[in-house]
This record gives sequence, C-alpha cells and structure tokens, in this order.
Amino acid sequence: MVHYELDRDTFLELRDFVYQQTGIYIQDSKKYLLENRLQKRLRENKFDSFKDYLYLLKYRKNQSELNYLFDAITTNETYFFREDKQLNLLINKIIPELLSKQQRVRIWSAACSTGEEPYSIAILINENREINPSKVEIIASDISNSALNSARRGIYSSYSIRKVPSHILKKYFTESNDFYKISDNIKRMIKLYQINLIDEKQMCFVRNVDIVFLRNVLIYFDDEAKKKVLSVLYDLMKDAGYLFVGVSESLHNVTTLFKPLMIDHTVVYRKVTG
Ligand SMILES: C[S@@+](CC[C@H](N)C(=O)[O-])C[C@H]1O[C@@H](n2cnc3c(N)ncnc32)[C@H](O)[C@@H]1O
Repeated sequence: MVHYELDRDTFLELRDFVYQQTGIYIQDSKKYLLENRLQKRLRENKFDSFKDYLYLLKYRKNQSELNYLFDAITTNETYFFREDKQLNLLINKIIPELLSKQQRVRIWSAACSTGEEPYSIAILINENREINPSKVEIIASDISNSALNSARRGIYSSYSIRKVPSHILKKYFTESNDFYKISDNIKRMIKLYQINLIDEKQMCFVRNVDIVFLRNVLIYFDDEAKKKVLSVLYDLMKDAGYLFVGVSESLHNVTTLFKPLMIDHTVVYRKVTG
C-alpha cells in the first residue's frame, strides 16, 4: 500500500491553511495525526503527494474536499449529559429566569459535534415541568459534515449514552443491538446547520441568541482565533446573554467581552454590556 510522506515544509503550509480555514492550530507534535488521517483520502484520489493535495485545497476551492479535511482534522469526542452541573444550571435557573421576562429563548450549541449536547439540552427541557418546550429554540452547528450527519441519524453507541439515567434512556431512546436511537420528538426540537466558527459570514446566520454553548472547541484554537470567534459571537448574542465554555476552559486573558459568574458552584460567562 502507498504511504504518503508529509515533509516539513508541506506540513507547515498545510498547517497554515488549516488554521486560516478553521482556527484550529496543529502543534508540531500532531504532524503525525495529520499525516495519518489524510492517507486514505490521498490514496483514494490517487494524489502524487501531499503537495498535490495541498494545491487542490488551496487553489481549486473544492468544498467537498474542504469538508473531508474538516472531518479529518476535527476531534468529535462528546457524550450525553456531559458536565451536568452546567446543564442543571441552564435548566433550573437560566431558562426559567429568561422566560419570566421574555416570550422565547434561543439557545445555540455552536460546536455540537454528533449531537449529544443539543439533544441532552432538549431532553432536559422536555423533562422540566416549568419550561414550555415550544418557547425554546435550539440551534446546533458544527464545522464537520460527518459529525452533523451522525447527529441527523441520531443513533448512538453505549459509550455515548453511558451517563444517561435509565428512566431517560427508556423514555427517549429505542435500543437495537446495543445502539440507541433518539426519539423523533427530541430530534424535531433541534435545527442543525454546518457553521464554521472562524467564518464571520456563516456565523452571522445565527442572531439574537440568549444562550451559547461553546464547550470544548476553543481548546483547539490559538488566542487570536479565540478572540476573533468571541468578538463575532458577542455581536450575535442578546445583551447579558449567557455563554458556557468547557469546565476546564477559561476566557481569562482572552477577552473582556464576557465576564465569569459563579452560580451554584458553576461558572457561566455573561455578555458585558454598557
Ligand atoms: C470535542 S467536540 C465538542 C463537542 C461538544 N461541544 C462537547 O463539549 O461535548 C469539538 C467540536 O468542535 C468542532 N469544531 C472544531 N473547529 C470548528 C470550527 N472552526 N467551527 C465549528 N466547529 C468546529 C469539531 O468538529 C468538533 O465536533
């Protein structure tokens, strides 16, 4: 089988290209990952070398090739009910508080991967008697097409549902051969889109958002890319809107556009206004 060598100069050029397109910064130590993950594509399309492949990406503006690249370089690790303290805060405090002052709430899961995050939110909204699900809109997006297709299928492995309580599993999933299909009622609560966080035009598709989940994605970006995403996000959010990042992430030294609040031992950021 042909093995394509990724030489240092081509790696640096490819890394710059990936960074410009996605905000994802690939460390030197991850060169092997890029080299391995793209082997199959280069073989299938009978490229002569990584240089050839890079040429096609850069100068042919081929969207399906770009989609393949996005799928290959992204890490889509996620699972249902991840970081449940944040979810509890959202469901028990933030959404009820917002609905006491306004008619509707718009939530955006802005790097939703294979859908576990927005579907968890939808399930919890459905479970809470104080929230009328028809008053909550959930938008979910990701850069990776294959992750979004998995979200559309809504079929999950036992790994993905390992933190789902059994009564919830029974109520919202159908099991078949150790795979779990999410109910159509929950699926219908989510609108799924392909949106690249580093592309301002694509980002502006979503507006007037009350609550954003941007969890476990900025960790792949450098500070400049983080700042860019957060400043666009700032403009798309409603005043005093809420922003969740991953529990191990911090926006300290990255932006002053959002300030951290500690509620119920959980950090949530708030859009700074005035
Ligand atoms: C580790 S997953 C996080 C999933 C979920 N938010 C969670 O916390 O469980 C990171 C996701 O970020 C997405 N991603 C990476 N770069 C992106 C970009 N520029 N625009 C949109 N999504 C991006 C990846 O495709 C991946 O699905």
